[in-house]
Amino acid sequence: MAEDKVALVTGSSSGIGLLTAVELALNGHRVVATMRNLENRGRLEEAAHKAGVRDRLDLRRLDITEFDSLPGAVDAIVRDHGRVDVLVNNAGFSSAGFGEDMQLHEIRDQLETNFFGSVAMTKAVLPIMRKQKAGHIIQVSSISGRVAPPMLGAYSASKFALEGWSESVRIEVHSLGIRVVLVEPGSYDTDIWTRNVKVAAGALDPASPNKERSQRFAEFVKSSAKHRRDAREVAKLIVRVAHDPNPKLRYLIGGDAKLQIWLKRILPWRKYERMIAKAVKIDQ
Ligand SMILES: NC(=O)c1ccc[n+]([C@@H]2O[C@H](COP(=O)([O-])OP(=O)(O)OC[C@H]3O[C@@H](n4cnc5c(N)ncnc54)[C@H](OP(=O)(O)O)[C@@H]3O)[C@@H](O)[C@H]2O)c1
Repeated sequence: MAEDKVALVTGSSSGIGLLTAVELALNGHRVVATMRNLENRGRLEEAAHKAGVRDRLDLRRLDITEFDSLPGAVDAIVRDHGRVDVLVNNAGFSSAGFGEDMQLHEIRDQLETNFFGSVAMTKAVLPIMRKQKAGHIIQVSSISGRVAPPMLGAYSASKFALEGWSESVRIEVHSLGIRVVLVEPGSYDTDIWTRNVKVAAGALDPASPNKERSQRFAEFVKSSAKHRRDAREVAKLIVRVAHDPNPKLRYLIGGDAKLQIWLKRILPWRKYERMIAKAVKIDQ
């Protein structure tokens, strides 16, 4: 048990963030569970009550794209809890659409949250962790940070950027006692596939030259829902990483994620591309 450890989780109103907040609390952490809209705290409160850990959670409002407010929010947490041992940069969403249909501002929005939001949170905790001479920064990346599927170019760009930046910062802070880790889930059953997917406005435009292919892709996504796994697996992995004094850089999780990396490695590239286009039903 890590009785006195303090964990800060972003995006804990649903999915991996919610489950991670509860799982960390069950494993002895005091958890500052943050969300951008506290009106959405119902599911977390219910899960925490059920698990008997409600008293170990401090729920706070935090939008990771309100960049200027983040250092102050982290200072307030340190004032109230004494330290931040673990940051779980989990908040994110996915944008879907053909690159041709997606507007620049839609791509920017995707990077503002998934990349710059996580960068800004990391920068806000680094001075604290430097003083503590310890800390874990766990970046919830994705298999899409290693393999870029069609229709998810902006999402993949955000996660590839997070991967590159984190790989670099990890080396910079290692000798300070700070550990930066990338967790790379495959497909897990959360709101990212429903409430939190933003479909490019252009993809919904009846005049889009990609309209039919977009519809076929949407059908593929719907039909693959049954294969999504229980996100508790990811939460448990994050807790394991948080307790490891010497974690690896990358943790890939999910059979589908491992299969994709393996296929990308062994297949000739052209064959791989044709196979993916066919599988997601966007070949002409
Ligand atoms: N589920 C998967 O298959 C999968 C696979 C690979 C990686 N991931 C990654 O896992 C992470 C968590 O996603 P999830 O699958 O658990 O989806 P989710 O259930 O939709 O949860 C996403 C969370 O992020 C929050 N959020 C979005 N923008 C935010 C912002 N600007 N500031 C603060 N919070 C914000 C959402 O808040 P609201 O409730 O206000 O919307 C929600 O709490 C994401 O980084 C995602 O890319 C998920």
